Amino acid sequence: MLEPTRDDSTEGELIFLYGPPGSGKSSVGPVLAKSLSLSYIDLDKFIVARYAKSIPEIFKDEGEAGFRLKEQAAFIECTKQVNSVVALGGGTLLDPEIRDQAARRGNIICLDANVETLLNRLRISSIPRPLISDPFKTQETMLLDLLENRKEHYASFQKKIDTTTLAVEEIVCQAQILLGMFTIRGMGSEYDVRVISDSLHKIGSNINQRKLHGPVAVVCDQVVSRWYLEPVLESLEKENFHAEAVIIPTGEVYKNIDTVISLWNSFVKAGIDRSGTIIALGGGVVNDLTGFAAATYLRGVKWVAIPTTLLSMVDASLGGKTGADLPAGKNLIGAFHAPSLVWVDPAVIKTLAKEEFISGLAEVIKHGIISDPRLYAICQSGLDSIVADLEGVVKRAMAVKIRIIQEDPFERGKRAVLNLGHTLGHAIEKVTNYQIRHGEAVALGLVAAAKVSEFNGIGEIGIANNIRSVLAINHLPTDLPEMIDKNDLCAAMMLDKKRRSGMPNLALPKRIGEVVWGYELTDLRLLTDL
Ligand SMILES: NC(=O)c1ccc[n+]([C@@H]2O[C@H](COP(=O)([O-])OP(=O)(O)OC[C@H]3O[C@@H](n4cnc5c(N)ncnc54)[C@H](O)[C@@H]3O)[C@@H](O)[C@H]2O)c1
Repeated sequence: MLEPTRDDSTEGELIFLYGPPGSGKSSVGPVLAKSLSLSYIDLDKFIVARYAKSIPEIFKDEGEAGFRLKEQAAFIECTKQVNSVVALGGGTLLDPEIRDQAARRGNIICLDANVETLLNRLRISSIPRPLISDPFKTQETMLLDLLENRKEHYASFQKKIDTTTLAVEEIVCQAQILLGMFTIRGMGSEYDVRVISDSLHKIGSNINQRKLHGPVAVVCDQVVSRWYLEPVLESLEKENFHAEAVIIPTGEVYKNIDTVISLWNSFVKAGIDRSGTIIALGGGVVNDLTGFAAATYLRGVKWVAIPTTLLSMVDASLGGKTGADLPAGKNLIGAFHAPSLVWVDPAVIKTLAKEEFISGLAEVIKHGIISDPRLYAICQSGLDSIVADLEGVVKRAMAVKIRIIQEDPFERGKRAVLNLGHTLGHAIEKVTNYQIRHGEAVALGLVAAAKVSEFNGIGEIGIANNIRSVLAINHLPTDLPEMIDKNDLCAAMMLDKKRRSGMPNLALPKRIGEVVWGYELTDLRLLTDL
């Protein structure tokens, strides 16, 4: 059965957790709500409070039919409150009309588990469940009957999580990926990340909902302006924002302080005051420059990231690192400045040049290596598999980075794993005067890091070949171009801003899904021998 799509006019966010008794709805609900800064409603508790009667009492007095009527009324009442996670009863959505309303008003996630797990959880639960409590039957028989009757019903939901072997935190993480909803904390502020295909027209209302009411400047480069500036401006105008476009030249060679100065001047012209918001609409270059200009203009104004390349979706737009290059090296000036919202529309990837898409895959593969073997396995199947579930791949790759930057927002420790492949990568970009794309350079850096890791007995045997082959199957480079002088590379790496006591500090892969950091390289040449 196809679920109706969410009604565009619906304001706010509603998430419904559904599934059989014991699937984890009321354990997961409050944790998911907290992680997304939403409120939490347990529908059964809502009914008990509303009618001042326990669920078994309602069943005893009015039967299942009477309970369902009360449940439907409670559902309608409690879904008037937006921005909530609602744990439903195990049969709330059996009514087609209520199911239809739930699908139109928000997102439904159906949790499930194997029978043994459901039974174990029910045994230790104190929640009364009249439909599986009968003095003349075992709970197992009753649960099996209920599951048999509702087999097709539960199977018909699109977003499902098998919770059998998962801890609550893991279920919450999977739910966030399925929903494309994350809230990032840790830099003294919190901000939402939303991943929704074909959603540029919603940016105005979402900025409005987050109470960013001042004047807006939309920064993009010449290429992106042709594709996506208009829908973004239209969406802002619809919400009565005063919005001005600021178009900058395209390419890494313009990621410098001159462009930052031109942005500051454009913000003055656009009337951006301290109540204003700057939108970065574009790839990693626009993201970094705009975020840095916003961090430094009027001692810091709010900004929103709308990443339009695969690379900027899964990496650059997350974590609040902003900056520009100096002639001496990449990202040598910068600031941490968290955005107020990251709005990701994976559908915009369709207009991206194939080489740019492939360049972004290097960061996706990197995230798989860091902590998501399943994501890595999808990448091992090659481009067709990735494209077949592009939105899913984008969300999984984002989740890896989000987990890390929450733990270590200012890169005092673990965040350094995200630099995997970047020491050599940045040097390659620099010595080729950015003729090699960021992702391509990172791909070469990943091969180098894996080789150093295996050579030093840190990485498991075969890891370098494994990583080399997944990059190659996705058309990423794995051999250093001959035109590159290794002495130049070593000199550029010495300028790497992550160096400590004179030598670069490396993140190295141990196995797929685990990376160590803080490795002090003694001989730079080791990194240049791919
Ligand atoms: N801040 C961070 O944490 C972080 C992390 C990783 C990378 N970065 C930075 O990101 C930069 C690389 O970003 P990038 O790879 O996105 O490059 P980019 O920003 O140069 O974009 C690549 C090209 O794609 C075009 N483009 C963008 N979106 C498009 C779309 N939807 N359709 C058609 N064309 C489109 C752009 O005009 C550009 O020509 C580097 O400067 C790197 O240092 C920053």
